[in-house]
Amino acid sequence: MNLYERIPNNVNLSEDKRLQRALEKWLPNFLSWWHDMGPEGFQEKDVWLRTAIDVGSEGWAHFDYVKMPDYRWGIFLEPAEPDAKVGFGDNYGAPAYQEVPGEFRNALRRIIVTQGDTEPASVEQQRRLGATCPSLYDLRNLFQVNVEEGRHLWAMVYLLHAYFGRDGRDEADALLERRSGNPDKPRILEAFNQPCDDWLNFYAFTMFTDRDGKYQLSALAESGFEPLARTCRFMLTEEAHHMFVGDTGLSRVVKRTAQLMKENEDVREVGGIPLEIIQKYINFWFSYSLDLFGGEISSNSADFFAAGLKGRFKEQEQYTDHVATEGSFTMQVVENGKLVPREVPLRNALNEVLRGEYVKDCEKGLARWNKALADEGRSERLSLPNIRFHRHVGEYAGHYFDTEGKLISPEEFEAKKSVWLPTIEDREYVRSLMKPVTEVGKIANWIAPPTSGIKGKPFEFEYVRL
Ligand SMILES: [Fe+2]
Ligand SMILES: [Fe+2]
Repeated sequence: MNLYERIPNNVNLSEDKRLQRALEKWLPNFLSWWHDMGPEGFQEKDVWLRTAIDVGSEGWAHFDYVKMPDYRWGIFLEPAEPDAKVGFGDNYGAPAYQEVPGEFRNALRRIIVTQGDTEPASVEQQRRLGATCPSLYDLRNLFQVNVEEGRHLWAMVYLLHAYFGRDGRDEADALLERRSGNPDKPRILEAFNQPCDDWLNFYAFTMFTDRDGKYQLSALAESGFEPLARTCRFMLTEEAHHMFVGDTGLSRVVKRTAQLMKENEDVREVGGIPLEIIQKYINFWFSYSLDLFGGEISSNSADFFAAGLKGRFKEQEQYTDHVATEGSFTMQVVENGKLVPREVPLRNALNEVLRGEYVKDCEKGLARWNKALADEGRSERLSLPNIRFHRHVGEYAGHYFDTEGKLISPEEFEAKKSVWLPTIEDREYVRSLMKPVTEVGKIANWIAPPTSGIKGKPFEFEYVRL
């Protein structure tokens, strides 16, 4: 592990002078992007952060105070497996690709660029949240997520520089040029152009949108292109904390709302976030995150699988048939104004298969939040909307569904929209609660404290020195 080089890495960067020089040229551009688009207002503060220093499951991270611009962004791949094989698709069982196969070059570059684009995008979306943090603990978690998304950008940029030559370098530059929500140069995927400007949005985003990341990375961790698989496996280790932040964050908001409801059924009167608003945020971010999996019926998904580039979730553990040319998948599609079942060859349905795994995982989160409600003696329950609700990509885009998945008219949707999705008033109300709390051990009124702190520290710890 070359931890104290300019670019910490475990890929022997110092032995590849050309690559090292190229990345060292990209580094100042990255830092200037971080300066312009990273967390606003806290760059000079000491933050108690974890830094990746190794890739083993034990002790891979080091915790200490660090100023964010001094964070050790680096390039870490899981160790290579001896005799790695392509684990699925038409080349199943062939030696894993150590270089980019010419015929898959464009597809692979597109996969890496699309993944890479989400990493800086989320930092941009979250850049103003620090100013309204509910506690120092949450502030630190926000920054932890932000610096790690920065490192994930490095992970993808390394692949572009190391394996794609000139056009890889151009793509790496472009990753620093697009901007979340900018109409002229937006980020590639729509969920990453949506504003994330209050903490309820932040928790819902890290719960639902970072979780999409988990499933995309898991599918790429199966890849027959070894460097990509090894990179994604390590990113998943970091990603787990991001989802923890979202899952527990929402759970704490739900718990606090339930507590405040005992004081006053109308929690607005006592400064809480009503369950209806929480439900609308869930509907919003869940539906946008479902879009990230791509179309239900997809020739791209078939091509990526056939090429051995993108597998299924836990391809090796969960499946025995890794070729998947047999078999089909039945899904509901809209035909002549009606929902009807359609049978699709399995390989063309792999986006939907991955989306199904994701939905199961999200349901576990909902069960935890509903337990928080039950524990506080409430009978209300939160739920996920149907997967067809409010979709902008795939079979259901351009049609209207209620939260149960029933096909409805545009007029019916319009009439119920304010019941299902956050309104401007909802967003303004949530924003009105966002007053920073930065005293050690204190927390905002609208959220419960966490059950424990980070890495054995108590909640009452100076996670950020202001
Ligand atoms: Fe990430
Ligand atoms: Fe993440």
